[in-house]
Amino acid sequence: MKSPYNEKVMDHFMNPRNVGEIENPDGVGKVGNPACGDIMEMFIKIEDDVIVDAKFKTFGCGAAIATSSMATELIKGKSVEEAIELTNEKVTTALGGLPKVKRHCSVLAEQALQSALHDYYEKKGIPSPIKLKTEEEMHEDEE
Ligand code: FES
Repeated sequence: MKSPYNEKVMDHFMNPRNVGEIENPDGVGKVGNPACGDIMEMFIKIEDDVIVDAKFKTFGCGAAIATSSMATELIKGKSVEEAIELTNEKVTTALGGLPKVKRHCSVLAEQALQSALHDYYEKKGIPSPIKLKTEEEMHEDEE
């Protein structure tokens, strides 16, 4: 049977980048998708407003692993402000596309990152510019 995933997605699924945890992270985000039960956790290290390291742990499907892998790759070396702009569409495009039924997996990666960045602002005692999505809003993004 032909895989519905392109080579890039398969590569990030089979050889995910940045798997693991960061000790004493500057931000941690954990999100779950109640529909499929998958869970994603993201850790970020920030120095002088730049993301110097990002790691993730994903208990989920191949697309969730591939999108978290790509999301961590895309934000490393970026400023916090640039990382906030990373959407699930951008992650999906960087992966060369995902099957439509797997869009919600990329939303999970986006929200894990947003949640980690939100945590970073909270830890620093700065009002967070990030508005985390509700479960309903996450579902709307999947369509
Ligand atoms: Fe749950 Fe992909 S099926 S995140």
